[in-house]
Amino acid sequence: MTPAYPVSRPRRLRQSAAVRRLVAQTRLHPADLVLPAFVRADIDAPVEIGAMPGVQQHTVDSLVDLARECVAAGLGGLMLFGVPAEQDKDPAGSAADDDDGILNLALRAVRAAVGDDLVLMADLCLDEFTSHGHCGVLDGAGRVDNDATLDRYASMALAQARAGAHVLGLSGMMDGQVGHVRATLDDHGFTDTILLAYAAKYTTGLYGPFREAVASSLQGDRATYQQDPANAREAVTEIELDLGEGADLIMIKPAGPHLDIIATAAEISTVPVAAYQISGEYSQIVAAADRGWIDRQRVMMESLLNIKRAGAAIILTYFALEAATVIREEVAGR
Ligand code: PBG
Repeated sequence: MTPAYPVSRPRRLRQSAAVRRLVAQTRLHPADLVLPAFVRADIDAPVEIGAMPGVQQHTVDSLVDLARECVAAGLGGLMLFGVPAEQDKDPAGSAADDDDGILNLALRAVRAAVGDDLVLMADLCLDEFTSHGHCGVLDGAGRVDNDATLDRYASMALAQARAGAHVLGLSGMMDGQVGHVRATLDDHGFTDTILLAYAAKYTTGLYGPFREAVASSLQGDRATYQQDPANAREAVTEIELDLGEGADLIMIKPAGPHLDIIATAAEISTVPVAAYQISGEYSQIVAAADRGWIDRQRVMMESLLNIKRAGAAIILTYFALEAATVIREEVAGR
């Protein structure tokens, strides 16, 4: 029966791949994607990370090759995490701001190789370098000392800026970290160094595989500084504080479990919003695909598209190179 008025038929716009492509509201581009990578001090060949199949701890040399691959793939950037030798960890995380510490050495080597062809990012946090594994230094009672940690971050920021990082990723969730680091960088003439603030970073079991990736020494958890997943309103406070302190970019992390927070951030932020698809999000997809339970490529691309649709302009993901290949093939195939 034909109704008297035109019936809305949303299916009209789903009738073929060509029409769906025309009306797609969200598209992924290789430049949206940033590859996180690990560089380890005491190895002479890359080491596979058991809980993250396909991801390695790199030597400085293999990392430089990887960086060149990122340039060739047109990625948005490369985010580096350093893994020092166990004997170089101490309570203050001294290897973090040592110019010859693994992360700073690697930054210098990658920057020398790729120049400004790739946006080079550094994780600015102490957890990879401290013997206790916390993101900050501890007070006499064993609690993370917020303000003493800020001075460590400032020193680390200077070392990373000197080493050639374009972007510093403040992932420690200490109060006041963005403002303190910004002021220090400016005082030393690093006014162009970009600050990516992990504005809303939630505590989660999904960081599990990352602990293996950075050989973390952490006992216990980070619940006194990372956000409680029960809370959404608190993310607004964190974002507003970071913007007020001069964040150039803000990040929501983890991405997939917090699409609502990404959407809020996209609405209220005056700067670009990034999201981090973390180790456990990666490993879940890889593990299920390895068992044949889901289609790896399909779920990978969906997961990234959904993060972008929620409002993230920049996505950190261990799938970055693989997804960039899929994107290029899709464009070439049409
Ligand atoms: C802190 C930091 C962590 C991650 C990125 N930066 C670890 C943590 O907060 O426990 C996790 C990234 C991932 O799981 O992929 N340096």
